[in-house]
Amino acid sequence: MKVMVGVSGGIAAYKAAELVRALQQHALEVRVTMTDAARQFIQPLTFSALTGHRVLISLWPTEDAQDSAGDASIDHIAEAQWADALVVAPATADILAKFAHGLAGDFLTTMYLATTAPVLVAPAMNVNMWEHPATQANLETLRQRGVRVVEPGSGHLACGMVGPGRMAEPQFIADAVLNALGRSHDLAGETVLITAGGTREALDPVRFLGNRSSGKMGYALAEAAQSRGAKVILISGPSALYPPAHCELIKITTADEMRAAVLNRMADATLVIKAAAVADYRPAAVADQKLKRTGPLTVELTPTEDILAEVVRRRRPGQLIVGFAAETENTLENGRAKLLRKGVDAIVLNDVSREGVGFDSDLNGATFLTTSTAIDLPEMSKRKLADRILDEVVALRRPQSLLVELSGMERQDIERETSSSEPAHPVTPAAEIFIAGAGSRRAIMIEES
Ligand code: CTP
Repeated sequence: MKVMVGVSGGIAAYKAAELVRALQQHALEVRVTMTDAARQFIQPLTFSALTGHRVLISLWPTEDAQDSAGDASIDHIAEAQWADALVVAPATADILAKFAHGLAGDFLTTMYLATTAPVLVAPAMNVNMWEHPATQANLETLRQRGVRVVEPGSGHLACGMVGPGRMAEPQFIADAVLNALGRSHDLAGETVLITAGGTREALDPVRFLGNRSSGKMGYALAEAAQSRGAKVILISGPSALYPPAHCELIKITTADEMRAAVLNRMADATLVIKAAAVADYRPAAVADQKLKRTGPLTVELTPTEDILAEVVRRRRPGQLIVGFAAETENTLENGRAKLLRKGVDAIVLNDVSREGVGFDSDLNGATFLTTSTAIDLPEMSKRKLADRILDEVVALRRPQSLLVELSGMERQDIERETSSSEPAHPVTPAAEIFIAGAGSRRAIMIEES
């Protein structure tokens, strides 16, 4: 998704660079527009270096047009349509007033009027300016028109005064943008290891055994996980795709290399998703020289290690493991058998016999299988499917739990304790207590922290 960051002229303009970085870390594509006043505080070059795009400043050709950092005569309507959200940080009293009154003398104000995307403003100014009825009235007008105001914090201001007017922290503003875009942040704090693409097993110096996997599903998962706040380690077979910015990419070629990379990094992961199409066999011997065509050729193959099964054997408590299954027949039956055989928490089951979906396609449909459920995820873009898969994974994301059957007495104690506001049970601070009804019997589930 695409976000336009508008920078207006306040001392907090330097923090807009941090905001750009924070948004990029959520795999958002970011461009920047600045007011003339903002350029007194920070150079466009900072933003063009961060975003890889020219910074939009003027509606008209200016001298800056010669300068690759600045830009001119850009179609603001096109830019307004490009953006899925506009966030102005810092938003000065002046820009708020212009927005409220529909003035459109520069690129940012024109874009504000032209966009239909969500607009957020993160005000920053002197406390008296913030409290002035004119500013508050403008803010109220903007709120009523649907603009989201990321409220400033209180504290020491650059002007030496103390009070409200300090721009909200960039991470906080980024969260508000994600929210406005309907993005949840439910994988924050998780490290997700994702395998993607196919492996290649050499036959001779120029030939290999491979498969049709493009890596699109794994890369889409990497992007989705990252945008939901996870740190992503992407272990990928050869692929023509660009990995999402900021994820750790480990490139491998063979199943053995993939195994080594996965085992090496899996300890860091809280969630492992094995979307790669790993070779099940490799040639028993690799010819030193290119094989000549001398008639029929028989190649002996030996099985590769099952990396997923090994990951399951080495898993540490709390680590979630999700596999993929590519099936061409008896899909559900084979998928269930694979789920149990591999011992994973879930399998994303693909029927790869269907035309136009799966391998090398931008579309995919799947069944999300656990030991107790089979959730149909109908055909959609791989990027969307990635989010749907993660929705289901997040729903599974429960730490190891301990189910304690309680006697009547204990039950009354627990119910009394959990109904009081004080945490009365001797559990770790992060632990939570749920009382689950089960007919006349009741059980308490104590989640480990
Ligand atoms: N997998 C793996 N190591 C292998 C083969 C597969 O880790 N050597 C993983 C894949 O990444 C996938 C899952 O196992 O997550 C299932 O892969 P799939 O090819 O569908 O099944 P296989 O295990 O290869 O079994 P089969 O070919 O018999 O269907």
